[in-house]
Amino acid sequence: MLNDDISIIPQPVRCLRKKGEVILDEDYIITVNEKAKRCGEYLASLLRPSLKLKIQETSPSKAVNQEKSINLLINDRYNHVGREGYVLDISDPSINVVANEEEGLFHGIQTFRQLLPLEIETRKILENLKIHLPCLEIEDYPRFKWRGFMLDEARHFQGKEIVKKLLDIKALLKLNVFHWHLTDDQGWRIEIKRYPELTKIGSKRKGTQVGGFISKKRKNVSHEGFYTQEDIKEIIAYAQERFIKIIPEIDMPGHCMAALATFPELSCSGGPFEVPQTFGIKKDVLCIGKEKVFQFVQNILEEIIELFPSKIIHIGGDEVPTSRWKNCPDCQKRMIENNLKKEKQLQTYFSNRIMDFLNSKGCKTMGWNQILSKELKNNVIIQYWMGNKKTILENLRKGKKFVMSKFGSVYLDYNYKFTPLRKIYKYEPIPKKLEKSYHENVLGIEAPLWTEWISNERRLFWQAFPRLTAVAENAWSLKRNKNLESFKMRLEKFNQRLRFLGGGHARMHEVDPPFFKTLFGIFTIFKEPKGVADLF
Ligand code: ACM
Ligand code: ZN
Repeated sequence: MLNDDISIIPQPVRCLRKKGEVILDEDYIITVNEKAKRCGEYLASLLRPSLKLKIQETSPSKAVNQEKSINLLINDRYNHVGREGYVLDISDPSINVVANEEEGLFHGIQTFRQLLPLEIETRKILENLKIHLPCLEIEDYPRFKWRGFMLDEARHFQGKEIVKKLLDIKALLKLNVFHWHLTDDQGWRIEIKRYPELTKIGSKRKGTQVGGFISKKRKNVSHEGFYTQEDIKEIIAYAQERFIKIIPEIDMPGHCMAALATFPELSCSGGPFEVPQTFGIKKDVLCIGKEKVFQFVQNILEEIIELFPSKIIHIGGDEVPTSRWKNCPDCQKRMIENNLKKEKQLQTYFSNRIMDFLNSKGCKTMGWNQILSKELKNNVIIQYWMGNKKTILENLRKGKKFVMSKFGSVYLDYNYKFTPLRKIYKYEPIPKKLEKSYHENVLGIEAPLWTEWISNERRLFWQAFPRLTAVAENAWSLKRNKNLESFKMRLEKFNQRLRFLGGGHARMHEVDPPFFKTLFGIFTIFKEPKGVADLF
């Protein structure tokens, strides 16, 4: 049975309200078994400023049922909840969170956190605080193992503090994948030691298109920024403490103008180029005929693999025009040598070579669905955003793994008139026609946030929230436990917590426009959304 007075997002699998309540006060201690130590420290750091709780390590048998204690335990008592699931039991006087693995325990702590008063999030000392908690039992585990959010920092660099804030909020929502889009036409945002020019030149542009994709207007102010490898390490550590995997994306062979402005010799024509101030698809892309392009890409990927613990590397591959390859002697020679009939096959040639390279380093390749073709090798994760449904089904049936990011349903960068909250909430990532035996090939859901029109934090939060909250429930909660009305009620409370965490969100009257206002919503995708969130 689910209880709407217990307000948790994403909705847990099973929640049983029991009689009575617990009053959490300063007499409580946190006990942990050996494996749960790290989670114990984390919980203490959440609670300590408000409640001066001690941590005590105990053997599992002693830890349970101790008077006035929050017991964090990793053991195999509830095997069926898997590595990400947990059981939370609040009884008078003891509170138990039990999981098989640290990830699960961490998720249990996030659920517990949502039962605590909002003031906890301020990390201020709250004198004589007594926290009333309902007695209950929650059993919980995710529907999908991939619950992602993508941030494009190429179009607008946001910086470490915003990324950390987003990681904190992701943890609260049990979103476990952060896909970091670090390069694109309009900016190269990651230090590569072998090619310092990439950030010296490629991380700066002189101005920025404003007003929307068909607008001729420019903001003539330079935009720049990048992460040093030390910054990246700091953010990786921050994400790891929150059990969030970071998937880095180096987009290629298209969306590469920042790299080509730095090294024009990697293009078909030789340039020269500038880092573009405008958005949309650019004709100039990496030349597939020149060997030095492969050397360049591999040298970059070597540093990426070294830096990121992720064994999955995203190589983009979206929106690659072939017109330059048609007129390039090197590309044409490559086609003849490899018996390729169409320019489009050059992209597959490129992807397969990069995949082989990544495989040889023990990594798996991920790419946008435009890398798909009959000749593409199988060991790949495809991120679906748009395209032929039949092709997607065929590839799912062939065993390819997919992350679903259908652009009209989970892209966070559009106006609410095109992508209202209810549309995101109702998104079902498993295609209706897909037979059950292939369902496991859908790894989960990921919501991208492209930042062409997002130059500051207030705009960012307006676009992302509350929609990312709906993505989280969609990706975690069982289908049978989803309910839009209940979600919206729980959202009121969640939004308050978000504000206490220094975040913000679009206002509730903006997020679900009446049907007639969404009828022509498609036309808003060419225009710059202007909404801003209040941040506290
Ligand atoms: C994309 O939206 N170009 C993947
Ligand atoms: Zn070429």
